[in-house]
Amino acid sequence: MKTVLTGITTTGTPHLGNYVGAIKPAIEKSKTGDYRSFFFLADLHALIKCWDPKQIAQSTKEIAATWLALGLDTDKAVFYRQSDIPEIPELTWLLTCMCAKGLMNRSHAYKALVQENTENGENDPDKGITMGLFSYPILMTADILMFNADEVPVGKDQIQHLEMARDIAGRFNHHFGNKFKMPQTVVSEDQAILPGLDGRKMSKSYDNTIPLWLPEKQFRKHIMKIITNSLEPGEPKDPNDSHVFDIYKAFATKEQTEQFRQAYLDGISWGAAKQELFELINKELSEPRERYNELIQQPELIEKELLKGAERARQFSAPFLQKLKKAVGIRKIT
Ligand code: TRP
Repeated sequence: MKTVLTGITTTGTPHLGNYVGAIKPAIEKSKTGDYRSFFFLADLHALIKCWDPKQIAQSTKEIAATWLALGLDTDKAVFYRQSDIPEIPELTWLLTCMCAKGLMNRSHAYKALVQENTENGENDPDKGITMGLFSYPILMTADILMFNADEVPVGKDQIQHLEMARDIAGRFNHHFGNKFKMPQTVVSEDQAILPGLDGRKMSKSYDNTIPLWLPEKQFRKHIMKIITNSLEPGEPKDPNDSHVFDIYKAFATKEQTEQFRQAYLDGISWGAAKQELFELINKELSEPRERYNELIQQPELIEKELLKGAERARQFSAPFLQKLKKAVGIRKIT
């Protein structure tokens, strides 16, 4: 049986992009029964970009409640908090010692920050860059290799990190014997393209997200804020050049999408198009929203689920790490 694994960094409030791009497809996959599933809250990763303890704790709670409210079956999928698995940071060190510094130098995320510093005329091209950020892909590699993941569904921006994971795994295998499987990247179409309010990829870094669990009225208000062009009601509109349409498509059946396309050609007003979008998404989210609100009021239930997941995950990670340590020469004196 193949293993699917993915994590979400706990720095913000869950939004439609997380839902469509990561959580929904992951839950669907875990339901097929064809996979061993590992889904986790990447709270150690969160420390890289967020030094606000309250925000980290709040985001971890919200993202955990989101997976549960959306119907993740935690008896099937292993659902855990990264920081509850001490084997992950330990493995990170073993891998750090197998990772060429040059490989990290080539990271897009790191290079973008260096370029920004250079463009801003900074003397130090590494200004503001921590070692956590620099070696971020190694921690991510440990997440993946710890559970011998076959498939890792991620957004396009993470493809390079998966290549690095394979590179590091290959080097470890070469030196210490074949211990790790080579993880495959799985990028779904929707994942890459859900636009935010301004049309750029929906992402907390762009501040253009639509939060998943807003009360209905506020949710509708956000949808109404998605930017459009200034075509009048009655004028035909191009579905292939509309963020409202792109988001609609990510939630709709084929038939609904076709009907919506026709409505565009028939000149639906932007107000009406957004109202349809709101109704479509709201229908899908209204029940989970109630479950979410209940869960948020019962943090002890969320905590219990996470501890259960950690225990299950460690049944695998603890013996595996022992094996890896032994392989590198960290063993009992005999
Ligand atoms: N880096 C990923 C992101 O920001 C989150 C993440 C951390 C992850 N570890 C992972 C995703 C392991 C997949 C597998 O989106």
